[in-house]
Amino acid sequence: MTKITNICCIGAGYVGGPTMAVIAQKCPEITVNVVDINEQRIADWNDENMDNLPIYEPGLKEVVEEARGRNLFFSTEIDKCIDEAQMIFISVNTPTKTYGKGKGMAADLKYIELCTRQIARVSKDDKIVIEKSTLPVRTAQVVRSILDNIGSDVNFHILSNPEFLAEGTAIDDLHNADRMLIGGDTSTDEGRAAMEALVDVYAHWLPKDRLLKTNVWSSELSKLTANAFLAQRISSINALSALCEKTEADIDEVARAIGSDSRIGPKFLKSSVGFGGSCFQKDILNLVYICRSQGLQEVADYWEQVIIINDYQKRRFAENIINKLYNTVSGKKIAFMGWAFKKDTNDTRETAAMYVASHLLDDRAEIHVYDPKVKPEQVYSDLIYLTESQYHDITEEQIRELVHVHSDPYEAANNAHAVAVLTEWDEFTTYDWKKLFKGMIKPAFIFDGRNILDHTELKNLGWNVYAIGKGN
Ligand code: NAD
Ligand code: UGA
Repeated sequence: MTKITNICCIGAGYVGGPTMAVIAQKCPEITVNVVDINEQRIADWNDENMDNLPIYEPGLKEVVEEARGRNLFFSTEIDKCIDEAQMIFISVNTPTKTYGKGKGMAADLKYIELCTRQIARVSKDDKIVIEKSTLPVRTAQVVRSILDNIGSDVNFHILSNPEFLAEGTAIDDLHNADRMLIGGDTSTDEGRAAMEALVDVYAHWLPKDRLLKTNVWSSELSKLTANAFLAQRISSINALSALCEKTEADIDEVARAIGSDSRIGPKFLKSSVGFGGSCFQKDILNLVYICRSQGLQEVADYWEQVIIINDYQKRRFAENIINKLYNTVSGKKIAFMGWAFKKDTNDTRETAAMYVASHLLDDRAEIHVYDPKVKPEQVYSDLIYLTESQYHDITEEQIRELVHVHSDPYEAANNAHAVAVLTEWDEFTTYDWKKLFKGMIKPAFIFDGRNILDHTELKNLGWNVYAIGKGN
């Protein structure tokens, strides 16, 4: 196998950007071109001011600073970069379908198909094509069918190399990946050689025993399975948080008790207002869809329950706010601490905050949002998107009238009836909660959707405190 000196990645998003930046950082002899059809996104990746990169991730700007212009390039010249590359990563979005067959469940593979056809059209010499996006099991068959039927004698080797990074910790996850999964055709010399070429790239910084080789289908399915298992743990603990609230058991104590069992382990047992993010829901819906398509009704129903509990948790949190505020929030001011789907990211896709807000807006609450990284227009576009995609009893004009975004948390909470913590940003634990209390309308309520605050101290200051999985 020839040594890899040129890589192209199609898709400069949350995965393509950081992943390729780290490959370029760790492999200075490989030229890495990250391409995208979104011109603004590429311009932002090329911005002189590192604070304007399109993605906020701790440690990302340092990596980009080191490699950009040396061997890392962001470009809209997709054909040229495909042509020059020996190895092409496909890292485009694979959202849930919003139309036609499989609407609301299946993964929309149109972007995958479009760039596969582009690779087929442009390539003049042999290429290794790598599925980096999260895909339904057996998608490689579709990719192969398109690539193998272009009527040229170019050879394509298809690998599956799903990404397991989590946002907010992406750079650390890439530098110290638990494992890197490489699925390929283990039955032929060419297939094994293509896998080894990718192993060589990651072996620049990862120990070889963390580079797991499997067949393509196992690799594709393992990605969906990993996300399903992680989300299942959150829904399991969240389901039990509801029981804790009825029985005065404390969900954090229960999590600590069960997490100390080395067979269960402590991670992903933090109860919350519900998981968000672009992938858990989409990937489980996709898994459910695949199971149903294969006639596996019971398996599909089993995994669907993870989503049902997550929706229940978000709704339960919003309804609790309404109930505790004397059964109506109409005209009342609710301060939202946090909008991102988790801390240390500016990503708001599927954030629990927007579902809670939308529920409260249906009851005509006034929402005052503070988030350290999310831009105001993002908050409005999330809510408007939700109104358009689902039935909600509210118009865009009403959203703009009722929702306010602040750059100061104390201002957001001034004259509010309640504070709701939606994201677990560390800075929230450092606030002067006595000062915040002073500015509130009394009785002052706080709903801790992340269980990050000191509830005893808040109660001593006079707050009415409600938290996930804590009886009162
Ligand atoms: P994203 O929306 O941030 O980025 C995808 C990019 O692909 C966009 O910039 C889009 O313009 C571009 N694109 C789409 N079609 C294109 C085409 N034909 N040519 C060139 N560019 C094109 O998405 P993301 O969050 O980076 O996710 C990408 C994939 O990785 C998804 O399958 C997702 O499930 C998976 N994934 C995401 C994460 C995560 O943390 N976000 C983690 C692991 C896996
Ligand atoms: C998740 C997985 O962790 C990654 O391995 C995977 O690559 C990625 O999805 C993907 O495929 O996109 P991500 O969604 O970025 O990563 O972030 P997580 O840390 O998994 O958090 C997801 C959601 O679950 C967040 O809303 C978070 O607040 C919530 N969560 C997480 C909890 O409510 N409790 C927990 O204990 C952990």
